[in-house]
Amino acid sequence: MKLTTTDLTPRIGTEIRADREALLKGTHAAAIRDLLERRGVVIFPEVRFNDEEQLAFSKTLGEVIPQGEKGIFKVTLDRNENKMAEYLKGGFFWHIDGSTDDVPTRASLLSARHLSQTGGQTEFANTYAPYEDLPESEKKALEKLRVIHTIESIQRKIYPDPTPQQVEGWHAYKPKSHPLVWTHLSGRKSLVLGSTASHIEGMDLEAGRALLARLEEWSTQPRFVYQHKWKLGDLLIWDNTGAMHRVLPYAADSGRMMHRTTLVGEEELV
Ligand SMILES: [Fe+2]
Repeated sequence: MKLTTTDLTPRIGTEIRADREALLKGTHAAAIRDLLERRGVVIFPEVRFNDEEQLAFSKTLGEVIPQGEKGIFKVTLDRNENKMAEYLKGGFFWHIDGSTDDVPTRASLLSARHLSQTGGQTEFANTYAPYEDLPESEKKALEKLRVIHTIESIQRKIYPDPTPQQVEGWHAYKPKSHPLVWTHLSGRKSLVLGSTASHIEGMDLEAGRALLARLEEWSTQPRFVYQHKWKLGDLLIWDNTGAMHRVLPYAADSGRMMHRTTLVGEEELV
């Protein structure tokens, strides 16, 4: 059974077309995992999996985290559908999921169930490529640095004047120190950035933040980014260990609904 692939940009994003049944049976699982690692995000246009199919397909690629209802987490800003809706607005800013965990999730599969009339495109930035393109001297300097990640850092971008209850909620998540450069088991290296990056350990606060801002700007140049303009029934997978993502803002009452399944992390961030 054939797997047809088309690279969507030189540095990130590949479209995959394959027989639905073969995908569900896991026939191409090894090839898909390999593509994911090399291309950051893979897209299955209008494959139209229902929840059971999305779960079955996810299980061919790794272990599914039991989130949401039976593993299906609803990504929506509608509070009636997801009590975490307020937090999900943090997704308007570049981030990796689980960046305050020891082992960030491996990958997520997202399928479009209802679209917003405006906004809602999802963007992915490769985090290997911008590291690989840095001068050798800067690579060496960055490898020595560690970054403190907090939920507060990303949430403050949405809620600059939080209530004491909001701050208390953010502080329930412990700050996490990660190296700025992740050396993967494969030997490849990537930058660990995103809006949860609060400051650099042992560096003047403002100087550290300026460096993080400069690196984020470098890493999200158009040549490292793929923007997905959704069609109903599209399913995509992003490598959460080798890409950052964000969603372009959309209205909370737009009805936008994505169903997400997430694969357990397999590699400690070191
Ligand atoms: Fe996310």
